[in-house]
Amino acid sequence: MGSFSSLSAFANVPASPVNERVELTKLHDADPYKQKVNLTTEEYKDRNGDLWVLPVIRQTELELIMDTSLTHSKSTIGTNKNFIKAAQDMLFGMQSPGLMSKVASIQTVSGTGACHIGAKLLCDTLKPHTIWMSDLTYTDHAWDLIGGVEKRTYPYCLPDRSGVDFDRMIDVLNTRARKNDVICLNACAHDSSGLDLTLEQWVELAGVCQKNGIFPFFDSAYQGFASGDPDADAWAIRCFVELGLEVCVAQSFSKSFGLSGERVGCFHVVLSSTAHRQAVFDRLYHYQRGITSTPPTYGANIVSMILTSESLYSAWRADLKSMTDRIQKLRLGLYNELIRRRVPGSWEYLPSQASL
Ligand SMILES: Cc1ncc(COP(=O)(O)O)c(C=O)c1O
Repeated sequence: MGSFSSLSAFANVPASPVNERVELTKLHDADPYKQKVNLTTEEYKDRNGDLWVLPVIRQTELELIMDTSLTHSKSTIGTNKNFIKAAQDMLFGMQSPGLMSKVASIQTVSGTGACHIGAKLLCDTLKPHTIWMSDLTYTDHAWDLIGGVEKRTYPYCLPDRSGVDFDRMIDVLNTRARKNDVICLNACAHDSSGLDLTLEQWVELAGVCQKNGIFPFFDSAYQGFASGDPDADAWAIRCFVELGLEVCVAQSFSKSFGLSGERVGCFHVVLSSTAHRQAVFDRLYHYQRGITSTPPTYGANIVSMILTSESLYSAWRADLKSMTDRIQKLRLGLYNELIRRRVPGSWEYLPSQASL
C-alpha cells in the first residue's frame, strides 16, 4: 500500500518574532554571577530576590478558605458582578451611576487578555488604519495577533531618554494619524521608559485625540504600583472620561496585588451614551466565550474581597505603600550609583532625577 505525503502542513509556518524579555531572561539564568538581578520581570521581589506575597493576600486567602459559600464552579456573568463593580470603582473612582451606565466591562485573563479582547473589539468595529504605539513600548501586545491593521510608533522618549518628547509626539498625531486610528497609552508607569506625561500634557493629548478622532486605548497595568496611590495613578483615564471622550481600558491586577500568576484582569469600554452598552458587552462576551469560555475565579475573588472590605482595603494600601516606597528608594540608589561609577552605556541614558 502506498503512503500519503509526509510533507507537514506546518512546513511553511512563519518565523515568530524574538521576545526580548524571554531572551534576556535566558541569558540571566545562564549567567553564573551570584549577585545577578533579572530586571526584565515586573514582579515585586523582596531584598532576598524572592517573590513577595503581600500580607493582605495571605490574610484574604485564609478568609476565602473559611467561606463555605464559595465553590470551584466557573464564573458566569452573574457570579463575578462583585468583582466587576470593584474593578470599575478602583479604576474610575466612586463615580455617579450615570457614568457607570455607560461603561461595558468584562472580566478577562489578566491585562494581556484585556488587551487582546480590546484589540479585537476595536479592529472589528472601528476598523482603524493604524494602531499607534509609543516608540519604546511593552512588547507583548496583542495587535500583532490581529490582522489587517498597521502598527506604527509615535515618538515618546527624547533621543537621550531623559524625558518625554511631547512636542514630536503631538506633531506626529496631528499630521499622520487618521480618523478612527487607535493610540495605545500606558495609564501610568510607562513600560518600558518609566516616563509619564504631566497632568497638563494629558489634557492636551485628550484634545488632540478628540480633534483628530483618534481612539484612546489605555493599558493600565500598574495602578497603585507607580505612586502608591491608586487614585493618583488613574488620573489620566479619569481625565479623558471627564472630558467626554470614549475610551477603553485594559486593567491588570498583576503588579499592585502581586497576583500575576492568578491572571486577574478586566476590560472596560466607556461609551458616550448608554444606547450601545449592551451591544458592546454582548460582543465582548462573544469573544470571551471563544477565547477562554469563562475567566478564572480564584484571583478575582481575592481582589474583590480586598476592594470591598474596609479593613482589607487599608491593609492593601499599606502593602502597596511599602512596595512603592522601597522601589523609589532602590531606583534612587541605583541612579546615584550609576552616576557615581559612570557605568558606560547606562548613565548617559538616565532620566532626570526628578522623573524617578
Ligand atoms: C504595560 C503592560 N501591559 C500589560 C501587561 C500584561 O499584564 P498581565 O500580567 O496582567 O497580563 C504588562 C505586564 O507586565 C505590562 O507591563
